Amino acid sequence: MAAPVAENNQQAGNPAQWSSRFAFIMAAVGSAVGLGNIWKFPYITGENGGGAFVLVYLACIAVIGLPLMMAEVMLGRRGGKSPIGTMTSVAASEERSKGWAGIGIMATLAAFLILSFYSVIAGWTMPYILSAVSGDFSGIAAEESGALFGGLLASPGELLLWHSIFMGLTVLVSAGGVRHGLERAVTKLMPALFVLLLILVGYAMTTGHFGEAVSFLFKPDFSALTAEAILVALGHAFFTLSLASGAMMAYGAYLKKDVPIARTSVVVAIMDTGVALLAGLAIFPIVFAHGLEPGAGPGLIFVTLPVAFGQMAGGSFFATLFFVLLLFAAWTSSISMLESLVSYLNEKGVSRVKAAVGGGLVAWLVGVTTVLSLNEWSGFTPLDMFARFEGKTLFDLYDYLTANIMMPLGALLTAVFVGWKMKPEHSAAELGGWHRLWFPIIRYLSPIALLIVFYFNLK
Ligand code: TRP
Repeated sequence: MAAPVAENNQQAGNPAQWSSRFAFIMAAVGSAVGLGNIWKFPYITGENGGGAFVLVYLACIAVIGLPLMMAEVMLGRRGGKSPIGTMTSVAASEERSKGWAGIGIMATLAAFLILSFYSVIAGWTMPYILSAVSGDFSGIAAEESGALFGGLLASPGELLLWHSIFMGLTVLVSAGGVRHGLERAVTKLMPALFVLLLILVGYAMTTGHFGEAVSFLFKPDFSALTAEAILVALGHAFFTLSLASGAMMAYGAYLKKDVPIARTSVVVAIMDTGVALLAGLAIFPIVFAHGLEPGAGPGLIFVTLPVAFGQMAGGSFFATLFFVLLLFAAWTSSISMLESLVSYLNEKGVSRVKAAVGGGLVAWLVGVTTVLSLNEWSGFTPLDMFARFEGKTLFDLYDYLTANIMMPLGALLTAVFVGWKMKPEHSAAELGGWHRLWFPIIRYLSPIALLIVFYFNLK
């Protein structure tokens, strides 16, 4: 027999609910698996020296990310509303200050800011699909590939076009509601992405440099590890699991009461981490085989991979497939970023269509400043007076502010709230047997780890 459903999930204006546990997993994995796994993880690993960074990242996922995901899904299901609405109502039912709604507000803002630049980067996949279809990559040399990417970044008009289309796609699905479009899409696209990554890993094994990549990813050299890198790893753990940004809270609100939150979160985190590691195993052997720099930065996937595809039999076909799936992976993520805001506005009586269009439009506008950061405004680094922000463009600053400041801070506040301000019986009612393991972690370990990170960050 199905357990009763939380009443507030049934309110007008917020009628959505996942049809099954599987649907939630696919939606959550759809949110989690995105550019962060396939684009960002490999390049930040490359920039931060490999193995030791990966180890810190895995620890961040297991010790801080996963318990926090459980906390967010738990809060979401308990509140049954948008992240702002959820934090407001859970704080009230716990007889705590209204100020705790700030967690929801900051989360919604972070997701919104991320969406603004995420859309610009996701847009890059579209000209790459076109190039792949027309065989532009076949036999391409590393320098040509670099020039192709450089040309795209140097062209504000082109970037703007793809950014606009991607934001339009995001708004389109968001306006139609979460359940049907998203549920159906992710259940097909996520397994397909997984299969394709396995094929690419298989190819990478034939380059003769697979072992080099394995030791780069898994052999820790702690002398390469900096305090800054630890912060980057933690920030990325939040980013890749879509945490401290309302996405999991919003999706948790649509979860049926009989779905086990803890076990389901473990599955989501494992799938997300698996995809990131596979992406690394697909990309680094190719990087090494071509004598390229693993620390190449953001261009890694858009410069290096085309070179590899250009030398594969059937490379145009695989490249097309790869960038199409990257686009869809980004798409299912971007929708979850808009969800915090859309569900909030929806609660306030704005129709879903208006909320999605309005939110998308403002995010698009902020995204234009990211487009310009890549070319016309590349010399505009407004916070140069602070050593920490020196040389950072607006785009760099959005990325830094969200991943390194807002998300860890939101995570800290969430851990303090569920660990110290919420009655343990209430969280136990949602988490079941796992609560005994989870509670001491979220109460002591997570806040302490987060405080240490802040100390090193602000020192
Ligand atoms: N997890 C996604 C990725 O790795 C990014 C993402 C999706 C996200 N939804 C989010 C990040 C909400 C922050 C907030 O690409």
